[in-house]
Amino acid sequence: MVDVGETAERGNGVSSGVSSRVSEEGAGWSCSQIGTFKDLRPDRASFSWLDPRTLWRSRNEILAALFGDPSGQVRSRWVAAQRSRGVDGSFRIPVETGPEFSFLVLGDTGEGDASQYAVVPGMLKVGEGTAFAVVASDVIYPTGSGNEYEDKFFRPYQDYPAPIYAVPGNHDWYDGLGGFMRVFCDAPALEAVREGFRLSPSGLRGLLWRRPERIDEARLARARERRGKPGQRAVQPGPYWAIETPGLLVVGVDTGIRGDLDREQTDWLREVSRDPRPKVLVTGKPIYTRNEYKPSKLAGGGTVDDIVTDPACNYVAAIGGDVHNYQRFPVRVGDRTIHYIVAGGSGAFMHATHTIPRVTVGGVHEDDYRCYPLRGDSLSFYSRLYSERLRMRWLYLTPAESAALMSRRIGNTPVRDIPPVPVTRRMRWAARLLGGWPMPFRLPVGRTFHRYLSELSDWDTPPFFKSFLHVSVTPGTLRIRCHAATGCLPQEIEPPIEDEVVISLS
Ligand SMILES: [Fe+2]
Repeated sequence: MVDVGETAERGNGVSSGVSSRVSEEGAGWSCSQIGTFKDLRPDRASFSWLDPRTLWRSRNEILAALFGDPSGQVRSRWVAAQRSRGVDGSFRIPVETGPEFSFLVLGDTGEGDASQYAVVPGMLKVGEGTAFAVVASDVIYPTGSGNEYEDKFFRPYQDYPAPIYAVPGNHDWYDGLGGFMRVFCDAPALEAVREGFRLSPSGLRGLLWRRPERIDEARLARARERRGKPGQRAVQPGPYWAIETPGLLVVGVDTGIRGDLDREQTDWLREVSRDPRPKVLVTGKPIYTRNEYKPSKLAGGGTVDDIVTDPACNYVAAIGGDVHNYQRFPVRVGDRTIHYIVAGGSGAFMHATHTIPRVTVGGVHEDDYRCYPLRGDSLSFYSRLYSERLRMRWLYLTPAESAALMSRRIGNTPVRDIPPVPVTRRMRWAARLLGGWPMPFRLPVGRTFHRYLSELSDWDTPPFFKSFLHVSVTPGTLRIRCHAATGCLPQEIEPPIEDEVVISLS
């Protein structure tokens, strides 16, 4: 494992700035100059989760939870349609690379607002020379509409010169995957299935279910021109796939709305995982997150993690979107370590990390766990936001106060040096209200905060605490770096490395 020091050595010809693990400036707290990303944005309109129309358009999430998730059946129809169009059923994407190459992973990108565009300059800089990029989950918020790809996909990534592949997230599925399949697989819309109403869970679901949006083809064609150069164009075979390089397979799975894999995808995943080459899994739902173990279920029993941990399948890392921050759990499996990574921090609002308890899951020691933003920065950020929103100045906790609180709660030394800060009653109550300190009577504030309040806390000014991954491969090693995007100019010029791990492939 590599420790991220003061300034990391040059990688990819791009020097890396001081990270949030070293200084408050590195976290973007003293943002004297906003980055150039502001000039890339189409307008000043910001995306809001507080808009009732956004919530109504996202209603399929609740319907799937109440009445069952139809993603598996619909996915089978998409896959059958792809096969009937002549797409090879192995769903492999051969990519020509030398023995050494690199790629980017971005997760949960598509809000189309400042927090998405803030990632772009650093991603272009660090991504120079990469063979391709992968978007893991939620390409387009709130509902994956094919009519919203211009400002949430084609425009932000118009200057990224290589192909971009993607696995869908729950939000892409709120459109029945229509927009996603049209854009990434060049698939025509599925024929609508007319079912008469039945008094059953699926009948009730069908009554309220949001149908796929009709795509304005002329508008989509114009949007596509933004990534129309020969090197950028890419067509993937389906919502799940395996990118095939000489020394590595990158295997992408589609976890639908609720996280389950259908029978056909399960069979495909078992088959593709038999390939002896080392593999990285990219999934719409992370296997480990927030000190919890949540592997996606396979049709017919078992979980995705049964395949990931099978030594014969040779997975070295599993990267999941859906949770909008960065986390890494190095889990010991037999005589190997598999790195389980959450990488959903590349565009949408930030999920708090200060509500994550001391890590023990999967036998991982807290000292070996990594997250970005640091828990203290997450708490400080939310305290600032809510002290402003609620006009309660006492709620504000400085980055140093928050770091002191978090290190006391987690039981470790603060990640970056802080001056001695006494923990006062006022600080503890502020942290309690924000889910960062235990409540009396064991009220589940942390979980509630993660589930609902993070979503209602979207903001539009730096620091954004966004991140993306740069993965580089040699015949013997795979190196994963998490780069920060704060929205401030210094971190745009030298995107800091918040975490780095080098994995042996031999
Ligand atoms: Fe998401």
